[in-house]
Amino acid sequence: MTTNIGVLVSGSGSNLQSIIDHVESGYLKDVKLSVVISDKRDAYALERAKIHGIDAVFIDPRSHVSKMDFEKKIIETLQLYTVDLVLLAGYMRILGSEVIQTYKDRIMNIHPALLPSFKGLHGPRQALEYGVKVAGCTVHFVDEGMDSGPIIIQSSVPVKDDDTENTLASRILEQEHRIFPEAIKLFTEGKLKVDGRIVLRRDK
Ligand code: GAR
Repeated sequence: MTTNIGVLVSGSGSNLQSIIDHVESGYLKDVKLSVVISDKRDAYALERAKIHGIDAVFIDPRSHVSKMDFEKKIIETLQLYTVDLVLLAGYMRILGSEVIQTYKDRIMNIHPALLPSFKGLHGPRQALEYGVKVAGCTVHFVDEGMDSGPIIIQSSVPVKDDDTENTLASRILEQEHRIFPEAIKLFTEGKLKVDGRIVLRRDK
């Protein structure tokens, strides 16, 4: 059965691009990238979607009276495309409970830190400032907290003495581009089981 995917973005969309590439290469099978939704009109991710024939929708938070109203529009759009799995690929807002309940255990986020360390904005900067020697990224299911949902996959990278925020972030991003498609593949093959906080991988 095909899994319809909706991707929420706010920025450049390099993770989106990696997912598109993994679909086009056949690594991700029985998957349709149905819609890309951005809360930023000028997000380059929208262009990437259009180039690959994926519907790209801008939903303006400012033209909605409340966060709830804005998120109702997101849900309506996802439902219009009969989305089964929602991906937050550089989506820089915290989702409200209505979206999370509607897509319980079916929303994945990529975060540029080894959670539960360095939640929120600027994961690589926080890691550098703290002085950790190992940094990385996490794909997790989204719950109502910030970057707090059950962890699916993590990948670590070394922090070098001469790293800047940019060099560390780009080393992490390479890993993001690998583990996000891997997590999507496990999900679409029905190999992920969520048991409370714990995500188990099972082979069918
Ligand atoms: C990625 O590094 C992603 O992990 C991060 O934003 C970047 C988006 O890049 N997300 C967060 O910080 C969410 N808290 P992209 O638009 O090139 O995929």
